[in-house]
Amino acid sequence: MTKPPRMTTSAGAPISDNQNSQTAGERGPVLMQDYQLIEKLAHQNRERIPERVVHAKGWGAYGTLTVTEDISKYTRAAALQKGKQTEMLARFSTVAGELGAADAERDVRGFALKFYTEEGNWDLVGNNTPVFFVRDPLKFPDFIHTQKRHPKTNLRSPTAMWDFWSLSPESLHQVTILMSDRGLPTAPMFMNGYGSHTYSMWNRDGERVWVKFHFKTMQGHKHFTNDEAVQVIGESRETYQEELFGTIDRGEYPKWRVCIQVMTEEQAKQTPYNPFDLTKVWPHGDFPLIDVGVMELNRNAENYFGEIEQAAFSPSNVVPGIGYSPDKMLQARVFSYADAHRYRLGTHYEALPVNQPKCPVHHYHKDGQMNFMGAKTGNVDAYYEPNSFGGAQEDPNVAEPPLPVEGTADRHNHRNGNDDFSQPRALFELFDEGERQRLFSNIAAAMQGVPADIAERQLALFDQVHPEYGAGVRAAL
Ligand code: NDP
Ligand code: HEM
Repeated sequence: MTKPPRMTTSAGAPISDNQNSQTAGERGPVLMQDYQLIEKLAHQNRERIPERVVHAKGWGAYGTLTVTEDISKYTRAAALQKGKQTEMLARFSTVAGELGAADAERDVRGFALKFYTEEGNWDLVGNNTPVFFVRDPLKFPDFIHTQKRHPKTNLRSPTAMWDFWSLSPESLHQVTILMSDRGLPTAPMFMNGYGSHTYSMWNRDGERVWVKFHFKTMQGHKHFTNDEAVQVIGESRETYQEELFGTIDRGEYPKWRVCIQVMTEEQAKQTPYNPFDLTKVWPHGDFPLIDVGVMELNRNAENYFGEIEQAAFSPSNVVPGIGYSPDKMLQARVFSYADAHRYRLGTHYEALPVNQPKCPVHHYHKDGQMNFMGAKTGNVDAYYEPNSFGGAQEDPNVAEPPLPVEGTADRHNHRNGNDDFSQPRALFELFDEGERQRLFSNIAAAMQGVPADIAERQLALFDQVHPEYGAGVRAAL
């Protein structure tokens, strides 16, 4: 074995004794000049950073996106050209539980991806479900409050959850998925991922299409029943971490088939549903999946905190050839994530190794706490723009094609004319008898203790999806 390195203070001075505090006499007290002790205690006090306000419990790994098909007619994105391989990072998570929550809990799973492309980081911060509980971002904090602890009891509140859901019929689609088998996968590699929102792509000719991203598990779907999950959690609260880390450590690399759905701007004007509504999918029959390539996870992080906890994913991270859409929820997320990162990790979170782009970075942000990167402008005399000192300049070639918008500025009622029932019905009709029975019993279990008037309001919504849905849950209750 090689000789271990010499231990030092964080200022680099060698340490002679790391076992005994400096004291006046054998029995103490401790001397204030024992800076080594003070440094150690002070560092320990600063080990925790705020956990993510949602999606706090997570598991991640690095991997590769390999593009096997030619989709250049849709996008100019460098990372999406046929034959291209791009390094990436994935972080999976539950939504509601805190950092120490058990892994095998029924909840939506986060499916966050960061692709280190040659034209900047492209993040796709999706879930294992293609839709979401709300369609207007003004409702997101309210929804999340129903999933977190009650302010008085400090317990999760089924009453709050079903009160909100029963007053928000747009949640039916996602609630049905959450309460179905897919609401409790056995480990991250046994679930699909979805970009969920509608995004856009544009090609070298400046032509735009709308797209949805799909990541289809190549390991097959595996789920726990509620009863199985109780057993699993009784034995280990860390099953996802164990399984994802262990699988990759053994060299068994999980893979996902990467696909897109594409809708033209013309088609988007004709669909019977709003194609920018996050509570809706685009039916595969109308918008078939188009293969793009394969995503493989093949490397564990060396340091969980540094690379998974400090990872900062944001829907604002798009690259030339990929853009946003009018989806109201996506618009809010473009703001919210970078704001969360500045609070959770600090102003220069993008300079942390895990978040650093693997392409040149040039901007005119200046100074700030913990700025260890210096000027990124391209020339030390060019700390403003425009300048005559060869500082970084804009590139009009990467401009997104203009998007026509119309309409009145108003608080438009997002429930007006929206059909919240057809798509959950289509899903319900896909379920076989066993899946339906488990759906009913999962909902009944989740509704325990909910006041009758709230439960009745929710049952009336299930009735509108499908009479057998309402009847089934009633019977299970
Ligand atoms: P299809 O029959 O073409 O597709 C059904 C989809 O449902 C497949 O993607 C399948 O995923 C997925 N699925 C199967 N069981 C479940 C479940 N328990 N929870 C969530 N997803 C499940 O039908 P359509 O495209 O016409 O859609 C019908 C319904 O399927 C939709 O209303 C929606 O609820 C659901 N769905 C649709 C998706 C879409 O993008 N069109 C995506 C996911 C769900 P897999 O192929 O991996 O088995
Ligand atoms: C995490 C806000 C909707 C997926 C977060 C975080 C915030 C947030 C603040 C914590 C970020 C951090 O500290 O790093 C919002 C808002 C939403 C919204 C305001 C709606 C208006 C959604 C939707 C999805 C989603 C629709 C999926 C389709 C995720 C994921 C994470 C996350 C996967 C964890 C990312 C990671 O692994 O670091 N969200 N969210 N969120 N959100 Fe959302």
